[in-house]
Amino acid sequence: MQNVRYVKVGGKEDAATVVLERMRQELEGGLRVLGLATGSTMIPIYEAWAKSDLDFTDVTSFNLDEYVGLSADNPNSYAWFMNHHLFSHKPFKETYIPDGTADDLTAECDEYEALLRDAEIDLQFLGVGENGHIAFNEPGTPFSSTTHLTELTDSTLGVNSQYFEDESAIPNTALTMGIASILSSKKIILLAFGEKKRFALEQLLKGEATTDYPITALLSHPDVTIVTDLEGITD
Ligand code: GLP
Repeated sequence: MQNVRYVKVGGKEDAATVVLERMRQELEGGLRVLGLATGSTMIPIYEAWAKSDLDFTDVTSFNLDEYVGLSADNPNSYAWFMNHHLFSHKPFKETYIPDGTADDLTAECDEYEALLRDAEIDLQFLGVGENGHIAFNEPGTPFSSTTHLTELTDSTLGVNSQYFEDESAIPNTALTMGIASILSSKKIILLAFGEKKRFALEQLLKGEATTDYPITALLSHPDVTIVTDLEGITD
């Protein structure tokens, strides 16, 4: 698995330092289009960027996904998350997030995919779900998928509902970049912290690509870095 490089960190804060330095190098190297993720994993990363001198004013960003029906003023939307943790602190040239409130969700997905194709992401950040999902590509999603409307699994609804004040208010559908959309970025960094993510990383380590575990799609990408605090996960 020469395409996948593992970086072992001591914890989330250590990871934030490592990723900040990598981000600095990427910006110096001419990065212009950045793929961003949400989830608790990304919070210390964005906090470190927000406090840093990194300059994103020439950078266009694309987020991976958004819940259907949640607008940017809803604290559970990923648009709100991004504004709160990053965009309100650091100006970007342009930022894109799929619009889960669009009247025509299929058209929204097609438009988003077209924007992605035009822009060409230089570096995509990813978290991973406990069931191995990336963005909101749940088990069974074809590796050829582009941006699409998806139904969330019980596993994902169970894990993510903890962030909703009323747990039953979590939407069971979302718009997400597809697996092919993600794989078209030039470089990928996936972050996974804590024992709950061990199962997902173990599927990647097995070295066999299967739609049962969307994370294994990364095996066919030429440039993947996994940043993790898990002991015993190495190449
Ligand atoms: C959600 C997001 C994923 C993210 C995952 C992990 O399902 N759609 O992109 O990777 O959560 O979240 P956390 O970082 O909170 O573990």
